[in-house]
Amino acid sequence: MKEQVEVSAPGKLMLLGDHAVVYNRPCIVTAVSARVWVMIEKKPGHVAIEAPQVKNVRFVEEAISVFKRKYRVGDGFIIKTKSDFSCRYGLGSSSAVAIATLLSLSRFFKQAMSLREIFNLGYQTTLNIQGIGSGFDIAAAVYGKTIYFLTGGKVIEPLGVSHLPLVVGYSGVKADTATMVKNLRLNTPHGKLTAIFDSIQEIVERAKTELLKGNWEKTGELMNENHRLLSELGVSTNRLDKMCQAAREAGAYGAKLSGAGGGDCMIALVPEVGREKIERAIERVGGVVIKVSPNAEGVRIES
Ligand code: MEV
Repeated sequence: MKEQVEVSAPGKLMLLGDHAVVYNRPCIVTAVSARVWVMIEKKPGHVAIEAPQVKNVRFVEEAISVFKRKYRVGDGFIIKTKSDFSCRYGLGSSSAVAIATLLSLSRFFKQAMSLREIFNLGYQTTLNIQGIGSGFDIAAAVYGKTIYFLTGGKVIEPLGVSHLPLVVGYSGVKADTATMVKNLRLNTPHGKLTAIFDSIQEIVERAKTELLKGNWEKTGELMNENHRLLSELGVSTNRLDKMCQAAREAGAYGAKLSGAGGGDCMIALVPEVGREKIERAIERVGGVVIKVSPNAEGVRIES
């Protein structure tokens, strides 16, 4: 058992494929520079958690349970968490904290785990809590960078994208992912859901090719189309639509909501020279620009 370990894991942004990825279709996700930090320290006879972001405590607790069940380790530690970003943004603080907790436990108890094992236990953790989800956020926290991902981690393919000029805007509303996913299924006829998800799948496949070529114009168009389909499903909001429209009118290659919709964030793919103008346009319609960069490193030991 080690005395103390500190680990961090990145948040995420869904680039394309939101919702469809829950239903056996691919998505593209990028890890972001804002990270969640977990520190684990020896404390004989205890399992204590100090997590100021209340929402995340359940993810820490469940990650600990899943780890203990698998590796049959005992108590004797305190876990403290902190985050570079608010859990209100929908940037994946829950998945990041679960993954950072798992790696910290594996180092603390000297139980070697591969990245795939960390992904599997992390995905189990979120399913135990939410009952639903594709696991794309878990993959971003584990592997980092920009990833082509298929439901449940059936495919996790790093795309080797080196540069991704994104602007991120928060809509000011916190959305609940599990509720959004469940409501979409309840309220949408099966045929419509399947047809739209098939179209989104096609968009993701085409965007993968264009992203690899660095063709931002084409990728932006595909993002616009993806947003239109998500609006058709009813998961966008007036504010998100306005923010995306403002970004496009100010010169973005494309813009879309990112994640479950109902609030949280939108993203815009932007020409470097026009970035500031696009940020101001998003703010003018009530968005809050969040300064994060994409393509960040996955979970790592800090000390
Ligand atoms: C939520 O950020 C993204 C969804 O596709 C849910 C998921 O993939 O788990 C809506």
